[in-house]
Amino acid sequence: MKNSSTPRSPRSRSKGTSSPPALPTSVASLPAKPSESPSDGVFFGMWTADAGMQRVFQIVQKAAQSDVSVLLRGETGTGKELLAKALHDLSPRKGGPFHAISCAALPASLLESELFGHVRGSFTGAVRDNPGHFRLAAGGTLFLDEVAEMPLDVQAKLLRVLETHTVIPVGGRESIRVDVRIVAATHKALRAEVEAGRFRADLMYRLRVVPIFIPALRERGGDVIRLAQRFIRELNGRSSRRIERIATAAARRLTEHDWPGNVRELRNVIEYAFVIGEGPVLGLADLPPELHEARPSRGARALPPPPDPREGQAARIRQALEQTGGHPGDAAQLLGISRVTLWRQIQRLGLQAYLRRSR
Ligand SMILES: Nc1ncnc2c1ncn2[C@@H]1O[C@H](COP(=O)(O)OP(=O)(O)OP(=O)(O)O)[C@@H](O)[C@H]1O
Ligand SMILES: [Mg+2]
Repeated sequence: MKNSSTPRSPRSRSKGTSSPPALPTSVASLPAKPSESPSDGVFFGMWTADAGMQRVFQIVQKAAQSDVSVLLRGETGTGKELLAKALHDLSPRKGGPFHAISCAALPASLLESELFGHVRGSFTGAVRDNPGHFRLAAGGTLFLDEVAEMPLDVQAKLLRVLETHTVIPVGGRESIRVDVRIVAATHKALRAEVEAGRFRADLMYRLRVVPIFIPALRERGGDVIRLAQRFIRELNGRSSRRIERIATAAARRLTEHDWPGNVRELRNVIEYAFVIGEGPVLGLADLPPELHEARPSRGARALPPPPDPREGQAARIRQALEQTGGHPGDAAQLLGISRVTLWRQIQRLGLQAYLRRSR
């Protein structure tokens, strides 16, 4: 199980040094056939040559053997969900279900019924029993994504469930035994959330028995070009363009970029190059606008243009909420969508002001 061999590429070089290192820009410099073993830096669809990231893979392999709660902390696009799935697939629970739920963007009442279930008739719109994610994940793994966003009253209920290994569905009386392994993820420092009074300390200790910190892509500079090459090779097989090499100037720009969206952003950048550029060399002109700004920094980056084509949808939801006195259950019924979908859309479109106040 142990990842014994060291990766080919050295520990990431820090960016911004005065003499940039030579960059392995030829796609052919990668081994002809990618091997899918941890010793080649590949782990459940993730690749790295960075020592810190390899260490993460090793900890995941070890933690998977036990049933303890794991907390994954990392920025967006660093692979938290992929690692959560790896934890499940490597664990003795791999034959059981893997369920993921995002704790962000749902109000307490709805999140509670999504997690613990509800019985029919327990609130307007509860037209049938809902087992909830804890019961759906029985015998397997429950992935609590964006756990720092969980409202405090749901945190208290979650703690009780973790302590008693039982759930009581909303509107129900009986407690039901559940056997679930918890993996949680956040991009925030839970300790700071605890200090700010937004997260329960006792729950934090329950969730972070094994905390795993995933390094950001900018901290593993050696990975940027190698990952770009891997994405290029993958897309070469699927696209009419064939890229054989990354021009030195483009490679330098890629290594200098701050990568706030991490590996997901890098992949998108390469896909952009396939769509926009031509010929066998990926040049500077093939990179999206945000990479052309001189040494972009996180704070200085221009925001993307505001989304616009949603006005029609927003108007429909606004109207439904107005007609139902801001009642989300009734509005969801009127619109013919689930309460969860409606809540997501309300959050996305910023329509919270149209909700009934007394909840
Ligand atoms: N090391 C890696 N190697 C290859 N691909 C990766 C790696 N890390 C992440 N990815 C890619 O980035 C995408 C994002 O990964 P994932 O959804 O697990 O990130 P996340 O941390 O959960 O992000 P978010 O916080 O935005 O939900 C994946 O679909 C995968 O394509
Ligand atoms: Mg995720």
